[in-house]
Amino acid sequence: MGRLSIVVVTDPEELACVGADLVAEEIAANPTSRIVVPTGRTPLGLYRELGRRREGGAFDMSEATVFQLDEYLGIGPEDRRTLFGWMDRSFLSPLGIPDAHVVRLPTGGDLERACAAYDREVAGNGGYDLAILGLGANGHLGFNEPPVDRAAPTREVVLSAESIASNGNYWGVADDVPPRAVTIGMGPLLAARRILLVVSGTGKHAIVHRAVHGPVSPAVPASYLQDADDVTVLTDRSAWRDPEAAA
Ligand code: GLP
Repeated sequence: MGRLSIVVVTDPEELACVGADLVAEEIAANPTSRIVVPTGRTPLGLYRELGRRREGGAFDMSEATVFQLDEYLGIGPEDRRTLFGWMDRSFLSPLGIPDAHVVRLPTGGDLERACAAYDREVAGNGGYDLAILGLGANGHLGFNEPPVDRAAPTREVVLSAESIASNGNYWGVADDVPPRAVTIGMGPLLAARRILLVVSGTGKHAIVHRAVHGPVSPAVPASYLQDADDVTVLTDRSAWRDPEAAA
């Protein structure tokens, strides 16, 4: 049986602080934690807050190992759209994570084989300690697009039309979004010792409620969190409350 707690905060600024507290607590308890880190806009404030704490000498996670959650396929390493580049600018550099403590997803060669080896190695080392996740407009986690099996491994995926549209906001237009990606699978994510899902903005209202209150279903990948071990859903009020009811 899972343990899911919902923390509703006033706004994105408070979300950043409360999220940073949770990450800091994890690092204090286990400095060598193995942490999955997403891109996307929602966690950016949290990353900036951690960066500020680090600058002030109050936080150091340089002993942790950071795992990339997802990456587009079919673009070169210098492409402006790589999610690794985004993670580097927003998280790895500001937090001073040494290269030797960063694990990238496989993106080339025999991907099926490489992803299977990747999952085996992660599991062999005890899995992930903390997975920080954002919520896709269609309920995806990473790029685990619906419908997805709860045991889905790390693998290549084809992006849904909805994800291409939402990711288009990052890069200009939907045509700029690479159509294929690699993602850590639902199975290894759900096995993380602890999960922090960050959710912000009115656009996520319906999907966050489907995720935490709706039926657990392959149609809403984030609904599997209801059965995971230790999940904190950290959401701001604009995502959580019904904007119409609040008017
Ligand atoms: C993207 C990414 C996810 C991200 C999510 C939410 O498509 N694949 O890793 O967490 O959607 O993004 P945002 O925080 O910008 O809403």
